Amino acid sequence: KKTSIGKSHAKVILMGEHSVVYGQPAISLPLPDITFTATVEERLAGQIIFTPTYQGPFSSLAEGYEGIRQLVNRLLINFNALKQPFTLRLRSDIPQERGMGSSAASATAIIRAFYDFFDTPLDAKTLQKWTAIEERITHGSPSGLDAATVSSDAPIWFIKHEVTQPFSLNLNGVIVLADTGIKGQTGLAVSVVRSLLEENPQDAKQHIHTLGILATEAQTALQTNDLQNLGRLMNQAQQELTALEVSHPQLDVLIEAANQAGALGAKLTGGGIGGTMLALAPNMEVANRIITALETAGANEVWTQTYPTF
Ligand code: PMV
Repeated sequence: KKTSIGKSHAKVILMGEHSVVYGQPAISLPLPDITFTATVEERLAGQIIFTPTYQGPFSSLAEGYEGIRQLVNRLLINFNALKQPFTLRLRSDIPQERGMGSSAASATAIIRAFYDFFDTPLDAKTLQKWTAIEERITHGSPSGLDAATVSSDAPIWFIKHEVTQPFSLNLNGVIVLADTGIKGQTGLAVSVVRSLLEENPQDAKQHIHTLGILATEAQTALQTNDLQNLGRLMNQAQQELTALEVSHPQLDVLIEAANQAGALGAKLTGGGIGGTMLALAPNMEVANRIITALETAGANEVWTQTYPTF
């Protein structure tokens, strides 16, 4: 029985959320240890799907899976196999709606699994074209940053409509992530920044410009293992994001707790006004202290990520 497996992983934005909307550069990091796996298995008849919340005929896939439903249908049409019997199993460690790229990761894993199932090589450009189909259905106007990062082992340097560039990283530290448990509100946060730009353009533009400079400096710090400087840049970015009114009291509590416990820097990641924060620890020992502090301060869930040096 033929079985094909497609994998992908989570992502976070390290620098440049919000300012990226206005043309400034952003950096996103892959989280290779938080994975999404899609498995396509041959069967004799019927099309069956197993997701964390729905199991049954693919044709009656529940609401909330519209992106996946359309993606799989279009893939089958592409392979001239609309009636192909299969079992599709989806397994995810990536929390949803936390700015961690879960929808792009699901698409990437599914596309990889079906391309393997139909013995077709898949290049990066084709993968991104297919992921964008799912992302447009799920998110409206995706920037492409998620799609690029969930399929990459390297960080991505990103400028909207212009650059999507993987770069190699030299980072000895530990990334610690914590979820506030409060659903992030990216749409609301984006409109808060837009209002600030209308009310007080000079000020808001200055913050956005500074966030761009911080992202540029962070790329150098990431490539040279300059942990102290990277931490400092993260703290500065958090100040700028706070000035843009996209932080949240619970984010501030977690960021303060991480810094008190020895983080080199900490900031919100993604849309803000809830959602997730990210801290940088110099080593695992300090990371463990930060984790304890975050849990004590009420974090809903905590993750760590380290990177091999290339
Ligand atoms: O929460 P995420 O990972 O989807 O990131 C949102 C990033 C913003 O810059 C706030 C919005 C955007 O579209 O880039």
